[in-house]
Amino acid sequence: MHKKLNTRLLPFSQKTLLEISENFGTPVWVTDEKTIQDRCQQMIDAFSGINMKIFYAMKANYNPHYVKIIKDAGIYGIDAVSPNEVRLALELGYAPEHIIFTPSNPTDAEMKYVGDQNILQNLGSLSELERFGKMFSGSKVSVRLSPNIGVGECDKITTGQNESKFGIVLDDFSEVQNICTQYNLTLEGIHCHLGSGFYSATEFSEAFELLLEISEQFSDIKFIDMGGGFGVQYHPDKEEIDLKDFANTLSKSLEKSSNKNIEIRIEPGKFLISQSTVLLTKITTRKAKEIVFLGVDSGFHHLIRPAMYGAYQHIVNISKMDTDAEFENVQVAGNVCETCDIFNENIEIQKAEEGDILAVLVAGGYGSTMSSNYNMRETASEVLVKASGEVVLTKKRESYEDVMKGFVWG
Ligand code: LLP
Repeated sequence: MHKKLNTRLLPFSQKTLLEISENFGTPVWVTDEKTIQDRCQQMIDAFSGINMKIFYAMKANYNPHYVKIIKDAGIYGIDAVSPNEVRLALELGYAPEHIIFTPSNPTDAEMKYVGDQNILQNLGSLSELERFGKMFSGSKVSVRLSPNIGVGECDKITTGQNESKFGIVLDDFSEVQNICTQYNLTLEGIHCHLGSGFYSATEFSEAFELLLEISEQFSDIKFIDMGGGFGVQYHPDKEEIDLKDFANTLSKSLEKSSNKNIEIRIEPGKFLISQSTVLLTKITTRKAKEIVFLGVDSGFHHLIRPAMYGAYQHIVNISKMDTDAEFENVQVAGNVCETCDIFNENIEIQKAEEGDILAVLVAGGYGSTMSSNYNMRETASEVLVKASGEVVLTKKRESYEDVMKGFVWG
């Protein structure tokens, strides 16, 4: 079948990508600085009428070049989940008060390190709050609540419901207060994160009203942090999320509240970074069985979202863009020895041959950061296309020695 190619989600020209694949080899992540800057500005503009601070959830992509671009684009702070993320944020020049630490099941040593840097901790269990209180009596703290409202792209990344491992249930809030009193802690913020990838403001607004109601009862609470999760358009035929809807629902709830001027925080990850990046991979093997398989030189050790969540990642055949493209239905399969190592179960792509370069789109968030060395494969290199047009290597492809370096051997 012949059809028109939809390049809406592709931030690069064919020429740029083919040159990069030639010069840097494949697989390679290619990131567009201008797209990151635009996404940041879009978010800043959408919430400009609200007392809002935006923290980038750097777990989505901690390549220091890209975190720096986000910082320079005016995003206020960093949401960090591990001491190493905190350390990098500090090294990149974020002041401690521009960093919030939201760990999952931290050790005492981790809480101690972060507390010693004067960084606010956002703790998701009574036990952590109590252990923190013993270490840092008299200081400020924030708690992560479970509003029992969860929403996300799929169950595995839906978070705010009471059955998820995260957060303190609302029924335990009086216990939060008891611990704060006992250790003279000031509860400066309350937080929730509903999940990753929501596309309407309905649940977000419901959860916000719940937290707003709590904040009205406690004058110590200086901010409400609504976490991240703003959905990203992974399919070119889907509509983009309307951030203004989110801003409007927040404004409406605030107008009705006795706590109108409370500071609101959000922690977007994928919204700021996902669309800036494509993963380039080369077709090594074409095989026609029941289905046509396009075997490539990358796999779930690089981009695990399809195998792990069943997530959709759009793919374009960069080598066949200038022809009146004929499309075919294929499965793009990776080079890891696992059946589930596929990028897409069923995708229409411009008819491909061995040696063609495919671009997996919208791959900047939770792509390279979730890579592994499974099958003893090295992680891919990363390249940045600057707003000036200059192309720079930001991460080297690993070598055999890199893969082996942690082993106490030889
Ligand atoms: N804040 C907290 C407390 C979070 O747990 C997360 C993500 C975020 C903010 C940022 O969420 P975002 O805006 O990026 O949706 N690996 C999955 C997503 C897992 C998200 C984990 N927490 C994926 O590839 O879709």
